[in-house]
Amino acid sequence: MSPTNHQVRLAARPNGLPVQSDWSITEEPVPTPSAGELAVEIEYISVDPAMRGWMNAGASYIEAVEIGDVMRAGAVGRVSASENPGFAVGDHVYGGFGVQEHALSDGRGLVKVDPGLAPLPTYLGALGMPGLTAYFGLLDVGKLAEGDTVVVSGAAGAVGSVAGQIARIKGARVVGIAGGAEKCRWIVEELGFDVAIDYKGEDVRRALREHAPEGVDVYFDNVGGEILDAVLTRLARGARIVICGAVSQYNATGPVSGPSNYLALLVYRASMIGMVVFDYAARFGEATGALAGWLSEGRLISREHIVEGGVSAFPDALLKLFSGENTGKLVLSLGVE
Ligand SMILES: NC(=O)c1ccc[n+]([C@@H]2O[C@H](COP(=O)([O-])OP(=O)(O)OC[C@H]3O[C@@H](n4cnc5c(N)ncnc54)[C@H](OP(=O)(O)O)[C@@H]3O)[C@@H](O)[C@H]2O)c1
Repeated sequence: MSPTNHQVRLAARPNGLPVQSDWSITEEPVPTPSAGELAVEIEYISVDPAMRGWMNAGASYIEAVEIGDVMRAGAVGRVSASENPGFAVGDHVYGGFGVQEHALSDGRGLVKVDPGLAPLPTYLGALGMPGLTAYFGLLDVGKLAEGDTVVVSGAAGAVGSVAGQIARIKGARVVGIAGGAEKCRWIVEELGFDVAIDYKGEDVRRALREHAPEGVDVYFDNVGGEILDAVLTRLARGARIVICGAVSQYNATGPVSGPSNYLALLVYRASMIGMVVFDYAARFGEATGALAGWLSEGRLISREHIVEGGVSAFPDALLKLFSGENTGKLVLSLGVE
């Protein structure tokens, strides 16, 4: 075990895209557990668009990260020392460990994971928070029904790639919107989406007219902005719009762009509902059971985009989400053997 715990702390609140000086890399001795605690050597850290929101002042659906705090992050790792009877050295666990190499926990909120069932990064992807978000967003909030036409934006990302695959499994017709030809090829040829729209190279409105001629029953929105506005022009009667996220707006330095076409909700008797995955905590077991089943049957593909380089690579890794460099779930590896 390294005697030093390297950490990434929030040093300043960003204006627009985060820059290197918004972060500080600090060192502390590796923590030792007291009675009831355990220490975790972190192996993989989840890098999420929501982190950008947590860097802003003021609470949203969760409190802001304070200046000087270790950056909040979900992560998986191995119990390296334990004074907690519920956890043994060698157990693998998921928890909100933060962007650091070692974490101390009292065990509350930790989930044991089995690297024999799935590779550890998958517990940050399809078997983790993104998979749960896709599952509840589509099935509970979106009330997906067989035969629906579903549109998913951010379709080659962590949440969107799983949402589109679940929609296919449930018998829907799925149109994915993603940036670039290779992402579009991947979601159609390898994930089984019916069709893909490259929003960087195509007119989204025109493409939706062609690919959703009867209208969109469920829109799973990860990006907001212009793409949300375009989908609003193509709704079917009774459509459900799931506001999962709005990554196109997270670095806005002025007011967020709202959907100017919102009156389509009235015309098409449609709804637009926000969701936060943590509200479904009591039902995570149901969802992970279903997701693990589809994975083992080969009906669901989890792809993780692993960035090497340890915690100091975190600031650059986060930016990849906003430039669209990731395909699948973006994960930072700490290079633990
Ligand atoms: N509500 C919840 O409980 C919950 C939980 C988890 C995640 N989320 C939200 O779900 C969304 C997806 O998260 P994720 O973890 O799966 O991230 P992700 O989709 O894996 O990564 C972000 C992707 O967003 C796309 N993007 C970036 N800037 C864009 C822009 N200006 N316009 C359109 N697309 C843009 C990029 O793909 P392209 O190359 O295709 O542009 C990028 O790869 C985010 O909005 C996140 O906040 C919500």
